[in-house]
Amino acid sequence: MYLRKKIIAANWKMNLTSSEVAPYLETFLLETKHIEGVDVVLIPSFTSIPKASELLEKNPKVRLGAQNFSFHEKGAFTGEVSAGMLRDLFVRYVLVGHSERRELFGETDHIVHQKLLTAHRHEIRPILCVGETLEERKNGKAKQVLEHQLKVALADLSHEDLADTIIAYEPIWAIGTGCTATAAEASEMHHFIREVIKELAHKEISQKIRIQYGGSVTPANARELLKSPDIDGALVGGASLDPRAFAEIVKASQG
Ligand code: PGA
Repeated sequence: MYLRKKIIAANWKMNLTSSEVAPYLETFLLETKHIEGVDVVLIPSFTSIPKASELLEKNPKVRLGAQNFSFHEKGAFTGEVSAGMLRDLFVRYVLVGHSERRELFGETDHIVHQKLLTAHRHEIRPILCVGETLEERKNGKAKQVLEHQLKVALADLSHEDLADTIIAYEPIWAIGTGCTATAAEASEMHHFIREVIKELAHKEISQKIRIQYGGSVTPANARELLKSPDIDGALVGGASLDPRAFAEIVKASQG
């Protein structure tokens, strides 16, 4: 079996200002100072990225991520932020296809695909979010939905880029609802995602690729979810706003 390093990410969404970054990091870094062997990614809003970048410059334990970017290289795209601009601030990860972007901002599978290609071109690791609605799950369509999202998003990626993509399985019914998937439900879907990756590439890559779970992860349920061998980490929204709670989740990844 492939040994995959766990990856825990904090998606702050549209929360916390730039002046809140320093006190947050001070507490979080203190709480996690003995933790090793896990990748931690902080994904603040654009305006907090410069401060986080400055504070984390000499700290290899926490990497920086962004919540969004444009797939255009540069030019007349008022209000947009390019991958190159993020790279310049030492951003190493970027969320792509989060359900809030898909639902509220019209991000289509085609856009998601373009963004994945752009992120890899700039050597920024994409975290590709996929997941079904409650209705799709109830109608027995969850796997079909995931397969479609994955196949469109990951088309034409080299095997190397595929292996370097992180997938976040985020059932939409679990995001911000307090209603988490059980470890068994999540594992089944993670296993299915690996099968799709195997079909797109081959077995070794499907074993190598890391798949996070996201959707109401808290310090109370993280350990149970993260001890499952198919769950390689967590993408945490609400609970990541509290540095102590996020630290607890990072600790839970240690078993
Ligand atoms: P949540 O959000 O932890 O608040 O459910 C997860 C996400 O949207 O990434």
